[in-house]
Amino acid sequence: MCCKGLILFIALFLGFAAAIFLIYQFYSFIRCGCGKYGPFVSSYGKLKQDVLNEARSVLKKSKKTLKVTDLGCGSGALLLPLAKEFPQHEFIGLEWDIIPLIMGKIKARLAKLNNVKFVKDNYMTASHADMDVIMCYVLKVTGEPLGKKLAAEIKENSVVISEMFPLGYLQEVKQIQSSLAGIPEKVYVYQKPRIKSAATSISKNKPTAKKKTSKQSVNKVSKAPKGLKNKS
Ligand SMILES: C[S@@+](CC[C@H](N)C(=O)[O-])C[C@H]1O[C@@H](n2cnc3c(N)ncnc32)[C@H](O)[C@@H]1O
Repeated sequence: MCCKGLILFIALFLGFAAAIFLIYQFYSFIRCGCGKYGPFVSSYGKLKQDVLNEARSVLKKSKKTLKVTDLGCGSGALLLPLAKEFPQHEFIGLEWDIIPLIMGKIKARLAKLNNVKFVKDNYMTASHADMDVIMCYVLKVTGEPLGKKLAAEIKENSVVISEMFPLGYLQEVKQIQSSLAGIPEKVYVYQKPRIKSAATSISKNKPTAKKKTSKQSVNKVSKAPKGLKNKS
């Protein structure tokens, strides 16, 4: 009898958890413009580590306090380890989905991190003009408009690190060959466009992904990204 009760309790609990999960997935799908924008998926594995290492390489070099943001920060998979490692820098996550946002706030509170903020905002409308390091893990479709916005507003020496998907309009610094669950993926590193033609193409609404011959990464691949149209 007792055993039957326990089984019933576990079954009810699992059913309740599954129902909550499905409701959240449905909410998330609607919240993300029915698949138009990226849903909440946490960074993990080598791809995550490569993004973090790229950010670390910038953060550890700077003596002044840098502002670091994650556009669509989820529950802070990228921001929280960096905030813990670099208490001298400021971390601001923008997220429009309240569920991962609250999870991130709770995790930051539990870890007693005072240098990280989770802000409910739309990164396509918020300003990123005063950010020094910008990380993002967006969808292919978001890469072009977001790249255009960043190219227009970020500072000369800001660094943009894009996980998995290339961004349009920005000046590419390098690509890092990475992988996710054994599948080859890339991390893209950008700066504000410096060359005249890039500025012109911004006004003409054309993406530019000019490659700089940089020696910054041993993992750097020789080809510039094929651009947004070629990456699924
Ligand atoms: C693929 S997840 C990445 C989460 C986190 N950056 C990470 O690496 O673990 C993308 C996140 O962006 C959020 N998002 C998508 N479009 C957004 C927008 N325009 N403004 C704010 N957040 C957005 C989604 O809700 C989702 O949590």
